[in-house]
Amino acid sequence: MTDSKILYGGDYNPEQWPRAVWEDDYAAFDKASIDTVTLNVFSWATLQPDEDTYDFARLDEIVARAVEGGRGIVLATSTGALPPWLAHRHPEVERTDFQGRRHVFGQRHNACPSSPVYRRLSAELAGRIAERYAGTPGLVAWHVGNEYGGFDGGCWCDLCAAGFRDWLRARYGTLERLNEAWNATFWSHTFSDWAQIVPPNMLSEHWRGPDHTAFQGITLDYRRFMSDAMLANYRDEKARIREHDATTPVTTNFMGMFRPIDYHRWAADLDFASWDNYPPGPREHARMALAHDVMRGLKDGAPFWVMEQTPTITASRDVNPVKRPGVLRLWSWQAVAHGADAVLYFQMRQSKGASEKYHGAVLDHAGRTDTRAFREVAALGGELAGLGDAVVGARTPARVALLFDWDSWWVAEMTDGFNRHARYVDTVLAYYRALWQAGAQVDVVPTTADLSRYDVVLAPMLHVLKGDVAERLAAVTERGGSVLASFWSGRADEDANAYLMDAPGPLAPLFGVRVEETDSAEPGVANPVTLTDGADEVVSAARLVFEVLVPEGADVVGTYGTEFYAGTPAVTRHRPGGADGGEAWYVATGLDDAGVGWVVRRVLDRHGLVGPYADVPDVELAVRSKDGVRFAFVLSHATGPVEVVAHASGVDLLTGRAVRQGETLRLDPTDVVLLREDTREDSPGEPA
Ligand code: GAL
Repeated sequence: MTDSKILYGGDYNPEQWPRAVWEDDYAAFDKASIDTVTLNVFSWATLQPDEDTYDFARLDEIVARAVEGGRGIVLATSTGALPPWLAHRHPEVERTDFQGRRHVFGQRHNACPSSPVYRRLSAELAGRIAERYAGTPGLVAWHVGNEYGGFDGGCWCDLCAAGFRDWLRARYGTLERLNEAWNATFWSHTFSDWAQIVPPNMLSEHWRGPDHTAFQGITLDYRRFMSDAMLANYRDEKARIREHDATTPVTTNFMGMFRPIDYHRWAADLDFASWDNYPPGPREHARMALAHDVMRGLKDGAPFWVMEQTPTITASRDVNPVKRPGVLRLWSWQAVAHGADAVLYFQMRQSKGASEKYHGAVLDHAGRTDTRAFREVAALGGELAGLGDAVVGARTPARVALLFDWDSWWVAEMTDGFNRHARYVDTVLAYYRALWQAGAQVDVVPTTADLSRYDVVLAPMLHVLKGDVAERLAAVTERGGSVLASFWSGRADEDANAYLMDAPGPLAPLFGVRVEETDSAEPGVANPVTLTDGADEVVSAARLVFEVLVPEGADVVGTYGTEFYAGTPAVTRHRPGGADGGEAWYVATGLDDAGVGWVVRRVLDRHGLVGPYADVPDVELAVRSKDGVRFAFVLSHATGPVEVVAHASGVDLLTGRAVRQGETLRLDPTDVVLLREDTREDSPGEPA
């Protein structure tokens, strides 16, 4: 069933209302072409009322009704929230927070990942569920836990401290190597026994919070350890599922750009990636596109799922505006355009009580199907059903890669001495937004990815430079490609220690510059940077970080306008192989959107990668291709009507209308065109 269409449905918790209502639910699902339900996400307390008793009677009924309705089933393991008896009987399953406070029972996403009792019982529950429901007709995926990370993003208890020491022993082997990695001679930190090592939190290395640590190396390792500890929980459960079901894919729902967990460390253990899309505001189309691409990059470009999105409002914000008419459809197609093969909701019917009782749902408390929200859900369901399998499995033909790196994110944001206002995701997003507006198809990849298939590689704020990344970036320019790095790149090694050389460290020869000083300013202060390539000039208001550069082979493209470094380079371009070779751009400051856009357009232009709608603000072009057929999604996030000139001939699969290349397309706000282009490409991976 996964191959036949984009899956459509979502989290369904019928245990909260009477059996008779289930019939109304399924009748409504039929009206909305809902084919998939995610069941059993938070039911541990009823599935296992005490340590020795399991009771699957109610889940049997829920699953049976879904089977009867012919639905696809995503079956969760229910381990995302502890049952009260477990916390009561084994208090150590609860987390100790970043302040060092041991928690008692409450909320969800609350288990200590290192607790042997939690690990044993969660795996046991997953195994029993798999044993009972493996082979259920329509079972499309196993959903382990829920949104790993949870409260404070981790735990700092004694069990985790012991786990951390084991993890460190495995990583470093000797205390000598550990002391070197942590630069422990600083502030008298040389450890002479593993037992002396404690987790970094507000009782030890931190002040003011998670980003203020006396030892970046210790905190970095703890984050890596915590990410791995939760991964071990996922693996425990997956292993037990695999004892009963060798083939059904297993996944868990990620949260896009979620800082506490390094999703790249997890990716290999997921059979497909999935994530929950709750953008922080109504105009976050580029951020959502970036998050989709981060998720697609986890499995080397394979399709992913949107496991959750709200049909209307969320409940967790201070202010929870509804999605405006057409927005649900637009954002759903955007997800598909970026590689989603499933579009699922939280939730199918509103909860009766507790914190999410007013969270949006396909069906409200009254179960109405004559609401605006339901009509929009049903209309989208009809479109997805009508599309069938056309784009299922299709890939993104990207020639541009953007490096995304959790180590750089973690270390850059916990580093003292520069500017706390310069944030990793803001910086990455600035470059991504410019690519997005230009209509370039982008893969967002880990630093270990094969870069040989890209013409352009962007490395914004690649603070931690590991392994052979410098060599592989240089290889891109050696075959004529372009690379770009921004301020704070190449500063720290894998242990978060500074390179004992000029910044940007091992990247310096490629970019042909060295950083002599790093100046910072409050967010309100701008330094006008003039960017010019002779013919074209723009002045960009640069903010936050101002590296003072000494060119060592690079050409100056932009210069600062004020301060004692007025007239010195802010943006440079190096041609390490001479005039005919590739280019290495270095952006030493926080350019505004106009400045970043100017630079990125030049980089793309050289490779013919500027898309056809680049000059129409907020019109997005995202392409998938399959078997030589290109599917171009043209999405209008604009707030008023716009006209564009069709870039290709084909058929709009959403309306059946023939489109001729060169004709004018009028797009109203939230409009979507899904053009199956007439011209076949010779090989997947052609330029957009
Ligand atoms: C997700 C979570 C769901 C639900 C939803 C509400 O983060 O996985 O269980 O809480 O948010 O927006």
